[in-house]
Amino acid sequence: MEKKKDVTRRDFLKVAATVGAASSLTSVVAPHIMTAQTVGNPTRYGFIGTGTEGCTLLKFLATIPEGRCIATCDIYPPNLKKGVDTIGSNPETYTEYRKMLERKDMDAVFIATPLNLHTEMVVDGLNAGKHVFVEKTMYFKEDEGDIIRKAMDDHPKQIVQVGLQRRSSVLYQVAMEMIRKGALGKIMTVRAQWDRNSNWRRPVPDPKFERLLNWRMYKEYSGGMMAELASHQIDVANWAIGAEPKSVIATGGIDYWKDGREVCDNVHAVYEYPGGQKLIWSGVMSNAHFEFSEQIMGDQGTLIITLGKGMYYREPMAKVSSGNSKENWWAGATVNNQAAAAGIPIFPETGAMNELGFMDREMRYAKHWLASMGIYNYEEPHDPWWTELHNFLMSIREGKPIAAPYALGKADAQGVIYGNRAIETGERVYWPGQEPQDATKKAKKIA
Ligand SMILES: NC(=O)c1ccc[n+]([C@@H]2O[C@H](COP(=O)([O-])OP(=O)(O)OC[C@H]3O[C@@H](n4cnc5c(N)ncnc54)[C@H](O)[C@@H]3O)[C@@H](O)[C@H]2O)c1
Repeated sequence: MEKKKDVTRRDFLKVAATVGAASSLTSVVAPHIMTAQTVGNPTRYGFIGTGTEGCTLLKFLATIPEGRCIATCDIYPPNLKKGVDTIGSNPETYTEYRKMLERKDMDAVFIATPLNLHTEMVVDGLNAGKHVFVEKTMYFKEDEGDIIRKAMDDHPKQIVQVGLQRRSSVLYQVAMEMIRKGALGKIMTVRAQWDRNSNWRRPVPDPKFERLLNWRMYKEYSGGMMAELASHQIDVANWAIGAEPKSVIATGGIDYWKDGREVCDNVHAVYEYPGGQKLIWSGVMSNAHFEFSEQIMGDQGTLIITLGKGMYYREPMAKVSSGNSKENWWAGATVNNQAAAAGIPIFPETGAMNELGFMDREMRYAKHWLASMGIYNYEEPHDPWWTELHNFLMSIREGKPIAAPYALGKADAQGVIYGNRAIETGERVYWPGQEPQDATKKAKKIA
């Protein structure tokens, strides 16, 4: 607590200025003032897979007047009912998604089904003339990326958005803007983890539903922890580093939950990027102490972010003078080493600092100070889930840039697939075209 008091006003203003500039780049923080009554002709959509994530999305969609759910589809009757109850728009219900897609009065489809079904549903949705929102991970097997790409090329006017909601988080956008402005200097390492202390299982009312409800446990449908958890953080690392990995080594096992599952419960992977940067990812299912976060580590500072919270820590002055980064973000800042280590909360707030009047600047400074003391918590203007869904509808309606387009989804899916391959083979797996020339090295060729 003592240390925090040493963070100077100048520190706060500098972070706030960066944050303000970042926030002003995005329109997602604009107040959402339309109501169901004021939106004419909402985009009509159907929803496939109204399970856990499906109902999370439907809960947010129910508050977005630019869209209207006219149909839902699920093969598990209790979840079908849950979806209808959640959206509350009296949608027509289906158990065969292709039948639902035949509807001509439907513009878009949302897909939140088990991973093995994503590609065929995306392709069928595009072929039926719909815009498609598909949950992460975008696809399951390596060749499916090209299958989706081809269907998109066949239907160039239709949008595909992937459910990587961190891309729609103002907090993450602010963090990335700080990185681009040099606040972290040269980034060489991202550490990320997603830990739990639970078995990930769902209760099954009848054994015949075991594989349907617990699909995550079985390799026929699931990419395990890499697909379900690491996928979010591989995307964050790609975003922070500004590249895709070139290789991965990994290990994993079914080490704790020996309950018939086929996917690992204890995974550790190291991704290497073209500039030598590393993403170290781990996920364990027998300890939840560290939960989930990303630590983005540069030679001038560190960002520790989770969905909803972010802290910036500056490296000691000695390191700053190394001049490694393009821009010395801290040049001229009157801070001491103690202040540097204390940490500064980052948060989303609208408006660039230099556009604010004296009182507003003072107010923002006070908020940062209170946040640094743990007295005040910042919140996103909207939940990133809401924002990604709103963004998708506004991309359809007004051509707004797609929050998480195909290219990001593909980079993410490759990270998942190659990570799992590294676990299974015990060998370093290279991205296509990244295999070392040195024939003495054991390169795992990717067909
Ligand atoms: N973005 C996120 O933070 C996030 C969080 C959780 C899950 N997800 C993703 O969402 C997807 C679904 O995960 P979940 O946890 O909701 O799974 P879930 O099992 O709770 O829901 C999947 C639903 O799909 C239904 N379904 C299965 N086969 C179907 C078919 N042929 N036709 C229609 N419906 C079918 C199931 O009955 C179930 O209701 C996964 O890809 C997962 O990775 C994303």
